[in-house]
Amino acid sequence: MAIFKKKLPQELTLSDIVLPEHIGIIMDGNGRWAKKRGLPRSAGHTAGAQTFRKIARYCSDIGIRYLTVYAFSTENWRRPKDEIDALMKLFKQYLQEAIRDFKDDSIVLRFLGDRSAFSPDLLALMEENEAESKDRDGMVLNIAMNYGGRAEMIHAMRDIAQKVADGTVKPDDIDEQMVSDHLYTKGEPDPDLIIRPSGENRTSNFLLWQSAYAEYVIMDVLWPDFKEKDLDAALIEYAKRNRRFGGV
Ligand code: FPP
Repeated sequence: MAIFKKKLPQELTLSDIVLPEHIGIIMDGNGRWAKKRGLPRSAGHTAGAQTFRKIARYCSDIGIRYLTVYAFSTENWRRPKDEIDALMKLFKQYLQEAIRDFKDDSIVLRFLGDRSAFSPDLLALMEENEAESKDRDGMVLNIAMNYGGRAEMIHAMRDIAQKVADGTVKPDDIDEQMVSDHLYTKGEPDPDLIIRPSGENRTSNFLLWQSAYAEYVIMDVLWPDFKEKDLDAALIEYAKRNRRFGGV
C-alpha cells in the first residue's frame, strides 16, 4: 500500500492510483542547487546522494518493483576532474555503506553501463554488491553509471551482429524482444514513468530504447530538494494520465 505524503487531488481516490512497476529518475540539478548556495558543484552531488538514498528507500517502501537512477552518463567524463573525482568518491561511499548496512535489506542492486572505465576498487564494490544482493526479493535498484542509451544500443547491435556472423542468428530473427534481451536491462520491464527534476525537457540519452512508451513527468524542483511528496506528485500525475478518460 502506498504511503502518500501528498494529499490526493479531489478527483482521485486511492483506488485510482495505479503504481508504475518501473520508475526511471534523471537526478538532475545538483550543480544549480550548489551554485544557488555559493557552494562547489561537488556539494550539490553530496546533497543529491542523500536525496537518492531517501527516495530509493521510499520507492522500495511503497512497493515499486524497479527503480533506475541516472548517476553518471557516458558524457559526464567531460566534466572537470575534481567533479568526477568527487562523484567517484560518492559512488564508493554509497556502495561501501550498501555492503555494510544493507545485509537484511531486500533491495537488489544492479549496474547499467560500461564498467571498463571504473577503477578496480569501485568495480570490485559494484560486483560485490550485485553478488550479495542478487537473491533478494525486493525492489531492483538499477544504478546507471557510465551509461548512455546510444552506447547501450551499439553494444547490443555488436552482440547481435556477432551472432549473425557466427550463424547462430538469422537477420530475419531480429525482433524487439531480441534487442531488449541484449540491453543492460535484459529481463526487466520497460520503465512506465520517467521523472526528470530541475525542469529540463530532455531525455539526455537515458533508457532510449526502453522509454518508447514511458510517461515523462518533468518537475521544477532541483534533485537535492526533491522530497517524498514530490515523488507522490509524480505518481499522482502518472495515475491521472492512466485513467484514460473516455478511452478504452
Ligand atoms: C546531474 O546534475 C547529476 C549528476 C551528473 C550526478 C548524479 C549523481 C548523484 C545524485 C550522486 C549520487 C549517486 C549515487 C548512486 C550515490 P548536474 O550536475 O548536471 O546539475 P546541473 O544541471 O544543475 O549542473
